[in-house]
Amino acid sequence: MIIESMYPPAPANRSERVHDADAANAALARLSAVRKGYLTDRFISSLLPRAQLQPLRSPLINTGTYVRSEAIDRLVEQWLELSKPEGQPCQIVSLGAGSDTRFWRLMDGPWKEQIGAYFELDFPDVTLKKAMAIRNPRSGLQHYSWSFGARSVRSPNDVRITTSAIILVDLGGQALHSSRYHLLPCDLRNPPGDIFPGLFKEYLSPTLPTLLLFECVLVYMSPEASSILIQWFVDFFSPSTHTPSPGALGCTVYEMFGLEDSFGQVMMNNLRARNVSLPGAKPYPSLESLPSRFLKHGFTSGKALTLRNIRSNYIEPSELERISSLEMLDEVEELNLVLEHYAITWGVKASSSISPWIEWGLRPVKQQLADTV
Ligand SMILES: C[S@@+](CC[C@H](N)C(=O)[O-])C[C@H]1O[C@@H](n2cnc3c(N)ncnc32)[C@H](O)[C@@H]1O
Repeated sequence: MIIESMYPPAPANRSERVHDADAANAALARLSAVRKGYLTDRFISSLLPRAQLQPLRSPLINTGTYVRSEAIDRLVEQWLELSKPEGQPCQIVSLGAGSDTRFWRLMDGPWKEQIGAYFELDFPDVTLKKAMAIRNPRSGLQHYSWSFGARSVRSPNDVRITTSAIILVDLGGQALHSSRYHLLPCDLRNPPGDIFPGLFKEYLSPTLPTLLLFECVLVYMSPEASSILIQWFVDFFSPSTHTPSPGALGCTVYEMFGLEDSFGQVMMNNLRARNVSLPGAKPYPSLESLPSRFLKHGFTSGKALTLRNIRSNYIEPSELERISSLEMLDEVEELNLVLEHYAITWGVKASSSISPWIEWGLRPVKQQLADTV
């Protein structure tokens, strides 16, 4: 049985080229969904040189990419919407961001004023390439990164002046800082207490509502390293003498799970043959086990949905009709089987159970319709 994976597994012994390949593969899947009309993203090709020459993904992969992208976009937009009445901008931290374009898509839309700071973290070889793409004047990405908000950046080691604002290029070109956008190189498996205070410097505020995005990254790490990482953010956003009222902390994870059934075993065997392991999937044999990732760190709430359930119940019927008309999808059973093994999990840690953040989460279409009547 050939099982299509919706994102590339990475060998345990990761090399620089592998990191690049992970980031590029995830972005190529997105580009394929964009080229076939599932998604709209006018920034993706700027991060993928010669991308138009790449082969398109199968209808199954395009559908999966669409469902996950829509669901995470909604969670992000809802987070930004909830922060509006609070009168506070949000911070978003994307860990293992790869070639993601979410920052630029948000800055190009109605939510831009709600973005106080946006951080992208990845291995240094990945951030170096992304920084080069962003700084390339032909990419058009600089405009969005720098020209919104004229707050100045601090202590320039290596400052470049653009026509619109100041860009701080740091750590030999692997880091970028602007008024709102920060690109930071790191290995997330290293102790966050050692690397994060220096990396985030004073750019990350403990008082603003903050959303962490983990899209296809924790599965590559040991469960222990993932826990330490999440706990660092929990501690940072906990009340202290310096921060009596910390911001709400939200977290979204998109990943495979439940790999102990026959589908999972076939997939794991295929991966093992390529010397690949997914240590982060082990503690999560079932959908019910996924929210424990947050709840064990004291999050107020946590919930997980499979992509299959999201496709069936959380996407408007008109959208489903539109995407099903784009390409012939013969293998509906296979699609369902694959989508059942990928989930989006979200959790929130708010200061009280009457906080508006408790409302945060995907809502089924039926409930959305009932709310509009
Ligand atoms: C499959 S890609 C996903 C990229 C992006 N989140 C997306 O969904 O398009 C996984 C990303 O996580 C990054 N990554 C994996 N392990 C990491 C680690 N230990 N430290 C930093 N980045 C890591 C990879 O370099 C890669 O860019």
